[in-house]
Amino acid sequence: MFPSRLRSLLFAPAVRPDLLVKMPATGADAIVIDLEDATPPDAKDTGRQNLLRLAPQLASEVPVLARINDPSTPWYRDDLQALTDSLCGVVVPKVEQRSGLRRVTDDLANLGLNLPVVAGIETALGVADCRELLAEPTVAAAYFGAEDFIADMGGVRTASNREVEMAQSQVVLAARIAGVLAIDQIVADFRDDERCRTECLNARAMGYVGKLCIHPAQVAIANQAFMPTDEEVERAKRLLAAYAQATAAGVASLAFEGQMVDEPVAAQARRVIAQAGSVAASPTDS
Ligand code: COA
Ligand code: MG
Repeated sequence: MFPSRLRSLLFAPAVRPDLLVKMPATGADAIVIDLEDATPPDAKDTGRQNLLRLAPQLASEVPVLARINDPSTPWYRDDLQALTDSLCGVVVPKVEQRSGLRRVTDDLANLGLNLPVVAGIETALGVADCRELLAEPTVAAAYFGAEDFIADMGGVRTASNREVEMAQSQVVLAARIAGVLAIDQIVADFRDDERCRTECLNARAMGYVGKLCIHPAQVAIANQAFMPTDEEVERAKRLLAAYAQATAAGVASLAFEGQMVDEPVAAQARRVIAQAGSVAASPTDS
């Protein structure tokens, strides 16, 4: 089953079985075995064999996805042969055309596989057209890939993230309209915990539900950052109690702890409580 929350989506190369077997213990909400850019062209076959061999055993511990090479590449056909129903979904990178997504869905169906897609939006064309791409029924989630996007743009990747803000916003907006989960870009500098935390919090503020992770340290940071804090939950409860009292008295906007509260502010507070509740109800939470 496709995971209902994806605070952390941890990647490892399909050619690194030593890393793959460590992934369930990281506490990631889901993991991705990568046949695309983390697996070099002359090792794609080895990667596929590892995927076939390890996916079923890993899937007994954590939701597992495979990232295949996109349909325009010479590796795509063979990648499909390595997919099984132990996976909960397929990650399709560099999505640019609806026809590509439909081809993946049709090819999976011909193999007897009914796997939802996580669409990688990480090229100029993909970002420009993401609203129609994410509306495809096969898409369950989307990620924004900042590194590929800037490579395609011919830009320069900086720690400020200013160069990707527009694209990052477009992707989360399109995901919202399509009703799919939005997952934010990787932090390549995997030793920089502070950057990871800050990026997670910024992404959450925009409506992203999780982060692509490349290292176990990032998983713990993302799992925490994409959840409301205890203080947020407590404040939301107080706010909603005050709001209920005010509306019962015929007033729909009130002053609460120095801030104006009305229906949209109350709606945000309800969402904080719902998010916190979804984790309390989860047996797999670490
Ligand atoms: N999944 C599971 N375990 C991982 C991991 C991952 N993605 N990355 C690192 N680890 C493990 C290491 O094996 C090590 O385990 P140990 O404590 O048992 O020795 C521990 O976490 C700490 O790793 P560390 O030494 O800090 O990093 P490293 O130098 O071994 O690896 C990378 C760094 C970047 C090479 C590695 O994290 C990696 O390959 N990440 C995935 C890259 C990827 O998939 N990219 C494509 C998607 S964008
Ligand atoms: Mg990429």
